[in-house]
Amino acid sequence: MDVAIRLTVNGKAVEATIDPRTLLVQIIRERLQLTGTHVGCDTAQCGACTVHVNGRAVKSCSMLAVQVQGAEITTIEGLSTDGELHPMQAAFRECHGLQCGFCTPGMVMSAVQLLKDKPNATEAEIRAGLEGNLCRCTGYQNIVKSVQFCQSGKQATAA
Ligand code: FES
Ligand code: FES
Repeated sequence: MDVAIRLTVNGKAVEATIDPRTLLVQIIRERLQLTGTHVGCDTAQCGACTVHVNGRAVKSCSMLAVQVQGAEITTIEGLSTDGELHPMQAAFRECHGLQCGFCTPGMVMSAVQLLKDKPNATEAEIRAGLEGNLCRCTGYQNIVKSVQFCQSGKQATAA
């Protein structure tokens, strides 16, 4: 039997009637067409589907939509403000923290969480903090640099 859910996604109220087996990522991508959230595996390993649920980074492929009833969800599309990239997005752009870009939305969402929890994270802590996100292009070096660049606050003045 279908169930009604109510969420807030990127600041907008969303109501839907869904099959209770629907995954959070399916609501995000298929119902709301927010396709910046990617699906790179079906084993909860790649992190491409990472979004924030009530301010915490989660893999949206491994949560049922009914588990986030009433929650505030932020996807990569909701990270910028008034057309301005989030500092982490700007840092990825500045440091070439992406190649094909498939992992990037999930990396950025996880990296934002990481610096929120540990603003002074060391390089080793950044690497450990992002271990749930895989980059199939193996661009880890510049991804770590991007997080460090954001951490330094330099992206505020970057072109
Ligand atoms: Fe969610 Fe890979 S698609 S972890
Ligand atoms: Fe291609 Fe990471 S940039 S998967």
